[in-house]
Amino acid sequence: MEINTARTNSAMKESPASELSSLNPRLEVKSKIWSIGGGKGGVGKSMVTANTAIMLAQMGYKVVAVDLDLGGANLHTCLGMGIPQKTLSDYISRQVSSLKEVVVPSPIENLSIISGAQDEIGIANLKYLQKNKLLKNLNDLNADYILLDLGAGTSFNTLDFFITAHKGLLVVLPEPTSIENTYRFIKSIFIRKIKMIDDFLEIQPLINKAMTAKIGTRQSVPSEMIANVCQINPQLGQRLKDEISQLKFQIIMNQVRNKSEAEMGYSIQTICKKYFGVQVEYLGYLDYDQSAWQSVKKRRPVTQEFPHCNLSMSFKKLVAKLYSQ
Ligand SMILES: Nc1ncnc2c1ncn2[C@@H]1O[C@H](COP(=O)(O)OP(=O)(O)O)[C@@H](O)[C@H]1O
Ligand SMILES: [Mg+2]
Repeated sequence: MEINTARTNSAMKESPASELSSLNPRLEVKSKIWSIGGGKGGVGKSMVTANTAIMLAQMGYKVVAVDLDLGGANLHTCLGMGIPQKTLSDYISRQVSSLKEVVVPSPIENLSIISGAQDEIGIANLKYLQKNKLLKNLNDLNADYILLDLGAGTSFNTLDFFITAHKGLLVVLPEPTSIENTYRFIKSIFIRKIKMIDDFLEIQPLINKAMTAKIGTRQSVPSEMIANVCQINPQLGQRLKDEISQLKFQIIMNQVRNKSEAEMGYSIQTICKKYFGVQVEYLGYLDYDQSAWQSVKKRRPVTQEFPHCNLSMSFKKLVAKLYSQ
């Protein structure tokens, strides 16, 4: 398995564990927060966010879809809307006093959107306190479900939004680059989570060693690192295992054209268990379907424009599974 950890390593040095620990444990919440990520742009995160949000709204739930892909925001288009007058930029730059002021109704009943910033502000540039405030304010929104459409990449902010959510969905394409990015994303989450906990400060050298070890060697594998910690300090090793076991990822294979592509989700699940010791659930797949781009061209959500196409039918199955958990 080839994972390039170079970026993760250098980025990890920037933020002390004490700063991170206030994000952990998970926030007390009223709404269910689902984050939709995936290491790469163009895999279908916004499409999945928009159509999942629509289906939950159609079930009668109050849903807010939030475009956190600051810098590449297009969730509004996936929901069949123009750029709303108020966006997250107004909140971040304090043009408005509360997050509620940038919640805009969508054409779909029960569904509102917080549109992403339309300027160059990237989510990576969101300051630590701003991020915490945003997470807290999201929690105060009067919604049953809040869906976070995350940007591409593994910036700390993207990772933290993913970790803080109740469900972490990863959209993956059945192609090597996307699968590689998914592993990179999972590994980054894994490291970020460990760094959030002050108790693990004493094992930082081991973590760093695992991160800097040559890819493909035993030392580079996170499960080896856990085994090492267990040997040196069994109690801390157990604590580490417990923390890691709380991380849950759910994978959606998108743009699937055949059975073998659909089954790739199971391989990713197995590899993640073996190498990271993390639970990855393969939720299911979405068909590759021409209706996807046809609906984008019409600026309409696919499940609304083509409710009976293969993609919409596979969406129904997927959302039913997600909702029932
Ligand atoms: N299941 C699918 N079948 C065909 N095309 C798809 C499918 N899912 C997504 N696409 C195409 O991929 C493009 C990128 O999707 P998008 O949701 O914007 O990706 P992301 O948010 O991850 O950058 C869309 O414009 C759409 O045309
Ligand atoms: Mg997007």
